[in-house]
Amino acid sequence: MTTHPETDHSYERFSALFSGRTLPLAWLDLDALDANIRSISQRCGNMPVRIASKSIRNSRALEYIAGQQPHIAGIMSYSIAESVMLARRGFKNILCGYPCMEAEQISEAIQAMKETGALILFMTDRPEHISLLQDIAAREDHTVRICIDLDMSVRFPGVYFGVFRSSLNNTEALTRFLDQLDLCPRLEIWGAMGYEAQVAGIADNVPGKGMYNRIIRYLKKRSLPKIAERRREAVALIRRRTGRNIEVNGGGTGSIESTCLEKDVTEVTVGSGYFQSHLFDGYRQFRHIPAAGFVLRVTRNPAPDIYTCQSGGFIASGATDTAKTPQVYRPKSATLLKNEGAGEVQTPLLYTGNLLQPGGIVVMRHAKAGELCEHFNTLHVFRSGGLMDQWPTYRGEGFDFH
Ligand SMILES: Cc1ncc(COP(=O)(O)O)c(C=O)c1O
Repeated sequence: MTTHPETDHSYERFSALFSGRTLPLAWLDLDALDANIRSISQRCGNMPVRIASKSIRNSRALEYIAGQQPHIAGIMSYSIAESVMLARRGFKNILCGYPCMEAEQISEAIQAMKETGALILFMTDRPEHISLLQDIAAREDHTVRICIDLDMSVRFPGVYFGVFRSSLNNTEALTRFLDQLDLCPRLEIWGAMGYEAQVAGIADNVPGKGMYNRIIRYLKKRSLPKIAERRREAVALIRRRTGRNIEVNGGGTGSIESTCLEKDVTEVTVGSGYFQSHLFDGYRQFRHIPAAGFVLRVTRNPAPDIYTCQSGGFIASGATDTAKTPQVYRPKSATLLKNEGAGEVQTPLLYTGNLLQPGGIVVMRHAKAGELCEHFNTLHVFRSGGLMDQWPTYRGEGFDFH
């Protein structure tokens, strides 16, 4: 059973690769990752890509992707402590996608920039963010470059279509923020980010959910012109106020096509599409190849057609619903049980074929790409030639970035 011409993801292949190893373990298929890098490049055209590290959480994989992907703008990190680690590992351009209110970490980041020459960019949308940064930048005698986070959420009657992150959702709020920035001489605007989560992060082609898909597609279609207009106006205002051009970051795996169409955007963020976790299967615009997942051992067979595996309860973050549970990947027809789901220590599966027995394996996928790495110390890396290496995850290196 082959899913894509580039990769053999048959049960037999996974079994040959992993059944003799100590399980559970996490895997990364470099052939599939290569194919995803190629298709992401095609989707992005010439637009530089910023890799979302939260969706990777493995330094070797980040280096690998940065080395293969043409037109790399840098990394979008998810914490300042992580940004410091990345700067010390040689990454040169790191945009932290979320604001930081930890004074000690900000000082460490400034220190790391002085020592390595890397650029760490700080996300801001509140006076509290910039006054803390200004104080520390002044104390450290360093000019800190910041990114302004623009809210891209859209309100429709009765529906808030977006996320609650930035408070900068109109021209007045942005003008007030720029006025406050004028009082921060050690801060310099690098650019603006608008993350259109409602387009990038919501699937619109989920099997068996016809009506839901139609509603989401309709809302996305109606959002897109509003997003483009909001970003255009905000960027024009910042340009007028600074008297110069700025960088403009946007998007995510699910919105590459529409983000890249916007004239002001100078770079697009992409993370989840590299490992292609299962929440990113249900999009109409693209299909990437599952490149990472985990393998469980079947330990029991408590009833006919029920096979219980050790471990497996790796539930993804976000609003809690069944979409956040892992999915069985191989054998294809095995399913989780409604009553038990993926368990804390054991995961029973319903399966009627003849591939499973105690001692055998089951191949699973996580709902979210980077969170997989929070459960394992290494990714077992393979290619067509077989198992190659183990790449330590952030967890395996002892990091607990939040
Ligand atoms: C600020 C920001 N940009 C971009 C992304 C897109 O990342 P991905 O491609 O992994 O969906 C995210 C994901 O949550 C994000 O928070």
